[in-house]
Amino acid sequence: MVSATARPYIDASVPVLREHGLSITRTFYQNMFAEHPELTNLFNMGNQASGVQQQSLAAAVFAYAANIDNQAALAPVVSRIVHKHASVGIKPAHYPIVGRHLLGAIQQVLGDAATPALISAWDEAYSSLAGALIAAEKEMYAEAGIAPGELREMRVLAVSNESEDVKSFVLEATDGKPAPAFMPGQYLSVSVTFDDGSTQLRQYSLSDAPHPQRLRISVKRERRDGDKPQGRVSNWLHAHASVGSLLRVSPPFGDFTPDTESGRPVVLLSAGVGITPMISALKRIAEVQAQRNVVFAHAARGAGWYPHHAEVAAAMNAMPNLQVVTFYEDGSTGFSAGTVHAGRMDLARLPAWDRAATDVYMCGPTGFMQVQWQALLEAGVPAQRIRREVFGPELLDHL
Ligand SMILES: Cc1cc2nc3c(=O)[nH]c(=O)nc-3n(C[C@H](O)[C@H](O)[C@H](O)COP(=O)(O)OP(=O)(O)OC[C@H]3O[C@@H](n4cnc5c(N)ncnc54)[C@H](O)[C@@H]3O)c2cc1C
Ligand code: HEM
Repeated sequence: MVSATARPYIDASVPVLREHGLSITRTFYQNMFAEHPELTNLFNMGNQASGVQQQSLAAAVFAYAANIDNQAALAPVVSRIVHKHASVGIKPAHYPIVGRHLLGAIQQVLGDAATPALISAWDEAYSSLAGALIAAEKEMYAEAGIAPGELREMRVLAVSNESEDVKSFVLEATDGKPAPAFMPGQYLSVSVTFDDGSTQLRQYSLSDAPHPQRLRISVKRERRDGDKPQGRVSNWLHAHASVGSLLRVSPPFGDFTPDTESGRPVVLLSAGVGITPMISALKRIAEVQAQRNVVFAHAARGAGWYPHHAEVAAAMNAMPNLQVVTFYEDGSTGFSAGTVHAGRMDLARLPAWDRAATDVYMCGPTGFMQVQWQALLEAGVPAQRIRREVFGPELLDHL
């Protein structure tokens, strides 16, 4: 919350921030990295280069300013940030650095329009949000039993090719201890140090049902595409992580956790490598609620690009009320358990379900998510029934 004195300044600055948000956050990152180059190891520099991270922080600032009295709208935004922050090891001491550079950037971009009263209002707003994030992150670290930023070494037990561009890596503890517990849908951060000494962290959803001794991640190799360079961490993993390699990983975090335990019907929609949280959920449901009504729909470029399809087929054998629908964009055949359609995912071609009462979980590329989100709403699915995981910073465009 902010004081009655600060409130009018925050309200008045919403349209101004909307207009200048992107250049404020660009200026902020530029100045902060110049003064603290060590922070480039903490941030996803791929997202920085492609611009999505700047949009995300701007979106968080807008969402905060626009919803300052509406904790219900902010809660999911804050929850996602806190999980992501915990997975990359944000410490309380980082907050004053970010705060100073954010306020400095507002001042730099807005010039004379950034009056002392406006800056002081935003100082207050930032401190209040930072305080809430720090408190929530402290709880997450305590729950995971780690100090902020603490990583654990895990050994690669097995590597397998899942599709044209996805490899799975099965990980086990190096000390014989159990693997960390997690809920399907959660992810961990993998830290990779490159030959030039720089480090990068990336998140990967756990792609198998929880197991006492092992974890699995499945990584799509991001290939070079025109001007866009190949992805740093995914290509490093594909090239260097082999049986016996040691990887440094965070504990599992993440608040996208499909309901796997109840007996209620559920719909799981995915595209591309977005299948990873879904296959974890589906395998867990097969273990604990095999009679459950489940719609599992996946969209892939073609038959060679359907990771984990053998596990989907195995789930079909175990689950009499599982309906599987596959969409191949290139019209190929191939894995054809369930129903196969040519083209992109089309909601009208999925089996009917009780739109008002069924939870829908989805994960895939941004374009897929935007199309399905709209189609689900138009089909009468209430927004609060839809949960989604974005494999990048959440752009908050649905708020
Ligand atoms: C919660 C969560 C779960 C995830 N789960 C999975 C999963 O299960 N499996 C999976 O494969 N991935 C997953 N991801 C994505 C993963 O974290 C990485 O983002 C992905 O592997 C790409 O990382 P990279 O280092 O290979 O690519 P990066 O080097 O980060 O590049 C990413 C993109 O940015 C572009 N880019 C980089 N530099 C520039 C530049 N200078 N100009 C223009 N474009 C540029 C690249 O071309 C590429 O397209 C998940 C992400 C999140 C947030
Ligand atoms: C009030 C303060 C802050 C806000 C509102 C904020 C907001 C956000 C948002 C919206 C995301 C994206 C979450 C997603 O994946 O959807 C994010 C991620 C992230 N934040 Fe923060 N943040 C704050 C403070 C900090 C601080 C103090 C640091 C540390 C220097 C930090 C470092 C990061 C990092 C490293 C990520 C992961 C994305 C990446 O790798 O680039 N943040 N934050």
